[in-house]
Amino acid sequence: MIESIHGEYAIREVGLTPEELAPLAALHHEVQPSRLYATRGKQEKFLQELREGLEGRDALVLAAFDPDGRLVAYKLGYRTGNRRECFYSWLGGVHPFHRRKGLYRALTRLQHGWAKQQGFQYIETHTWGDNPGMMILNLQEGFIASGSLSAVDRPGTRIIMRKLL
Ligand SMILES: CC(C)(COP(=O)(O)OP(=O)(O)OC[C@H]1O[C@@H](n2cnc3c(N)ncnc32)[C@H](O)[C@@H]1OP(=O)(O)O)[C@@H](O)C(=O)NCCC(=O)NCCS
Repeated sequence: MIESIHGEYAIREVGLTPEELAPLAALHHEVQPSRLYATRGKQEKFLQELREGLEGRDALVLAAFDPDGRLVAYKLGYRTGNRRECFYSWLGGVHPFHRRKGLYRALTRLQHGWAKQQGFQYIETHTWGDNPGMMILNLQEGFIASGSLSAVDRPGTRIIMRKLL
């Protein structure tokens, strides 16, 4: 079970129960610009997608809490079904009040350290081309751009980024 401290923040691994994932799904809607105006129905559907996406998989969900115990950041991923040697880093974000304090870098390093320990050969993540902060951080943490995917539901491209462990 991962537990760590980053400055004033406590980081720990959380489980996959609806109770544990619900606050994370709520935070997701506060941090992702594309989710800010999601209806209640869409928010509930996302929680279901999250549960279905992680259930039965070799998953890791990391969460960071402020000194008052409020969830302020998260990062999650899972072992891919068709490429067992690949850990797919799916989603993550930091509440706007807590950005540029190295929190996401800390979550990233914990995730990568864990994945290496578990025997994964590489990490893959898909980053939108219009998200420079995420791209810069990923490049700094050892990812390389290794392809692209066109979106079907919005303009733009997602860059496939990979890091050998
Ligand atoms: C991208 C995001 C996760 C970064 O979180 P964070 O905790 O602020 O990142 P860190 O403090 O660990 O940043 C580490 C480094 O990454 C780079 N970086 C982070 N955000 C950046 C930005 N907006 N612009 C340029 N560089 C950025 C910087 O080099 C930074 O180091 P510095 O602060 O010493 O200059 C956060 O801005 C966020 O939640 N964005 C919205 C959601 C999102 O894009 N999620 C990812 C896709 S699912």
